[in-house]
Amino acid sequence: MTAAQLPVFEPPDTIAALPSRPFEFSPAAAEQAEVLLAMAPAALYQKLITDQESEAVHLVSLRLLTAFLNGPEPSELGLSGIVARVAGVRAELAADLRLLADDRTEAGDAVLRQRAPLGLLGGCWLDVLSQPATQPSVIVNRLFAHHFALRGEGNPKRSLHYLRRQALERAGVYLPEIAAADFLNATEARPLTALHGCFYLALSRLPASFLPELIGVHYAVLALGVDDQLLGLTPMPGEEELREMLRAYLELAGPGEVARLINGISCAVELEREHVGLLRELADWYRRLPLESKVAGVVARHAPFAGRHHQGVKVAGRSLAETFTDPGLDLARFLADFRESGHVRRTHDGLSRFVRAIKFGGPMFGIFSEQEAMIFSEWVAAIQAGDRPEIDVVASTAGDRAAAARSAAIKGTRTPAIVLREPGALSDRELFGRLINIENFANTLPVARDRAERLFTEAEVLFEHGAGGRYTDASYFEYSAEALYERAEQVYWEKLIRPYKPLTDIPDRDEVVFLQTTYALGALIDATWIHRTANLGRCDRRCDAALFSIYADEMGYGDLRKNHITLIHRALHSMGIKLPHIRDEAFQQQGDLPDALYGFSLHQLCMALFPDSYYNEILGYNLAIEMFGLGELRLHEIQKLNHYGFDDCYEQAHLTIDNISAGHSRQAADIIVAYLDEVRRVLGDAAVGREWRRIWRGYASLAYFVEHALLQRLAPEPAQTQPARTEPAQEDDSLSLLI
Ligand SMILES: [Fe+2]
Ligand SMILES: [Fe+2]
Repeated sequence: MTAAQLPVFEPPDTIAALPSRPFEFSPAAAEQAEVLLAMAPAALYQKLITDQESEAVHLVSLRLLTAFLNGPEPSELGLSGIVARVAGVRAELAADLRLLADDRTEAGDAVLRQRAPLGLLGGCWLDVLSQPATQPSVIVNRLFAHHFALRGEGNPKRSLHYLRRQALERAGVYLPEIAAADFLNATEARPLTALHGCFYLALSRLPASFLPELIGVHYAVLALGVDDQLLGLTPMPGEEELREMLRAYLELAGPGEVARLINGISCAVELEREHVGLLRELADWYRRLPLESKVAGVVARHAPFAGRHHQGVKVAGRSLAETFTDPGLDLARFLADFRESGHVRRTHDGLSRFVRAIKFGGPMFGIFSEQEAMIFSEWVAAIQAGDRPEIDVVASTAGDRAAAARSAAIKGTRTPAIVLREPGALSDRELFGRLINIENFANTLPVARDRAERLFTEAEVLFEHGAGGRYTDASYFEYSAEALYERAEQVYWEKLIRPYKPLTDIPDRDEVVFLQTTYALGALIDATWIHRTANLGRCDRRCDAALFSIYADEMGYGDLRKNHITLIHRALHSMGIKLPHIRDEAFQQQGDLPDALYGFSLHQLCMALFPDSYYNEILGYNLAIEMFGLGELRLHEIQKLNHYGFDDCYEQAHLTIDNISAGHSRQAADIIVAYLDEVRRVLGDAAVGREWRRIWRGYASLAYFVEHALLQRLAPEPAQTQPARTEPAQEDDSLSLLI
């Protein structure tokens, strides 16, 4: 295919699904995935929520999705048919949910806890749906608008997650953060709950590849509104908005995509039915639970933590320390002995030694929750009244049959689309294609990590020499908020604004177009560096919310007219630059954008895939890149574009949005200050210096790509010290990127 024959992409981007491709993994990841899949459901849930970077988790996610989604269902259902089907299930579940919601006893409390691992992850499947491979798709941006709304429009305190948490707390259910190590324990999650959670988390790891199914899941889960009904919350987004999204999708989708959409809907409907069934079963179990069994439950929960505290306390001649560390602990036997012991005998104050111990002032005060303490008090009172019922320790089995079936399906499912191989040696163009389509090429993740690390390390050369930069100053300085703001101001005024003079000589048309092509590869992945930060379990800090707000700004909050990827396509088209979409294989053959500039975009794509490992570096890079386009560079470009009548929408949008007084540049500095303030408060002053150094190498890594002239002066042999992918530029046109 010659360059002239390549498919040309032009917005609107009407994809309904990405082209189907195999999923490549390394053989080592396949082995690690087997180990993960053999873990108990709760451990797998925890792994999925905490690990958003590893290849093995991507493979586990694919296996889970294959097992849960039964396969496309050819269907004649149109919009009204789908809406009616989901509404029918909602009506079917409503009566049960009302009963559960109205139950203010401990059964109702258990139900709310049980639902929390699903309710609090609601919408996570949208976390990275917006990514270089899917932008600027019409449907992805509609969903991004939902995502933005679910995230509280930039205010975490208005987010779905927070509103649900508040509703839980109003009902007396207080839980740790969702990614906290003890979260599932605190919810007493049944294996089935954890497995359901694993499905939604898996979808959040491969959203682009499962776009049609994801839309089905998104529609069904939100339209069924199980969590809203349980917690008495207003649906968000409302049914009409959801239906509009669905209508928009059905206009884009062919029969194959509709079949996949219905598959997603069926899966979510089945899961929600199953989970409401589990909640019902759990509530019934609680309601029928004899007092002794409740006591046994409390003891079983606390026994592992009792440790050696009870060395001196004996029941039936055996120390409690020994009893509670016995792996064969017979709870019924223990409770039978305990109720005959002196610990529960009525004392002169009408209580007992045990009840006094758990009350305020007693040695065990605060160990048990209010509800647990009440169960003990009730039990002791019954014992003192002479009750000696049979002690039956019954563990809950709610949902276990369905969980076993799901686990068997996960074990038994094979995913035919998996290819096991190492990525091998890759050209820059091949690597670029793989990083854009990373869901299909997870075996490239180790390559990306190594590359990002190498570049961050190499860029530290500018810690010493960075002051001589033309557009940046990456020279190292000791951190203080004042020093950071001062450096940003100084770079802005001294390097970006002061040198500005309107051009008196406009280069010829071809030269203007050529220079624009050198910027284009970076602009086509605008904001990629932060597209994976602030995902589920990582959006509690002020800095995370602010990073998400910048990303949302870049994507126009889902409004395509304001979306920066749309703007760059518009600008390129006005100059007659016609390219395939970066997600298409054909992009590897494009002849318009120079090879020498892939390094910059590759670095950005690489770091973006490790938002936990390179969080600090991303913060520094964010400041550097948001500032980079300010002042002279962009003003000159606008002048040149206007001269030839080219569309300057991309440049104009950035002129205002990135400004240093309140725009992205200022926000980027504020984010660093907020983050390091948290570091100081949690880890102390000593940690700030360490974390800061990593932030600053992120800043330096942008400078490393743009300060060609400086690097040339530093290294007589440029090839040895410069990023291999960037050709040294002439001093007079050292600019090669404009984001
Ligand atoms: Fe932008
Ligand atoms: Fe920006």
